[in-house]
Amino acid sequence: MLSKAPIGFFDSGVGGTSVWKEVVQLLPHENTIYLADSRNAPYGIKSTQEIIELSIKNTEYLLQQGCKLIAVPCNTATTNAIDYLRANYKVPFIGIEPAIKPAALNSDTKKIGILATKGTLSSQLFKTTQEKFTRDIDTVEVTGTGIVELIESGKKDSDEMTQLLVEIINPLLSSGIDYLVLGCSHYPYIKENLQELLPNNVKIIDSGVAVARQTLAILQDSKLLNTSKEIGQHQLYSNANPTVLQELIGNMKNATVESLNF
Ligand code: DGL
Repeated sequence: MLSKAPIGFFDSGVGGTSVWKEVVQLLPHENTIYLADSRNAPYGIKSTQEIIELSIKNTEYLLQQGCKLIAVPCNTATTNAIDYLRANYKVPFIGIEPAIKPAALNSDTKKIGILATKGTLSSQLFKTTQEKFTRDIDTVEVTGTGIVELIESGKKDSDEMTQLLVEIINPLLSSGIDYLVLGCSHYPYIKENLQELLPNNVKIIDSGVAVARQTLAILQDSKLLNTSKEIGQHQLYSNANPTVLQELIGNMKNATVESLNF
């Protein structure tokens, strides 16, 4: 039955597992396949055309595996390629966007920070979302150049990461922001590192839970929810660094991590 078919996920690498974890927690009976395209990371410095081509490659693989829905827990791929994917494939797609709306609505100082990749910050979809939700709000945008590469190489808690973050967040320190929006699915893995460096009143938010809720809603609407009572099975594939992928998801009885050339 189609409802038992897996949900497919793809990201430029291991970071999208921060979102995948939220989906698995909310929908424990769903089966999933996760593709970490780490060989091509980071997507954030590539052209829109390149990001679309990589997104097609990942989508085709997931469809060959019979996925009933594809989640794209990668802000860079969503903002640059989701319109193309939705227009060219029949399967439902779930994208991810920076949580600008809740940050703007809840900010007391009326100033919010956004940390994302160059590819996300320069995309049209990002600009449209930002204009829509920040009319009476100041935003401070910072590009997280180099963060994805360090997380991909297993160095999220290294001195190198601390040094890089100190430089990157410098424009945020005396800006008066009270929210920092994490606009890249890799960044929840460095949330604690950032919290230590930022003033105490700055709240850091991401979009993982919102994507999980949206996945549930779309599965229900399209009558694709897996109603089985059995616990879901998860296959995660990396085309470059399965060890880092395994470290980030931890040991799960119902999940396997493998190397795959896709
Ligand atoms: N996880 C991707 C995102 O959310 C990482 C971006 C990249 O590969 O540069 O944007």
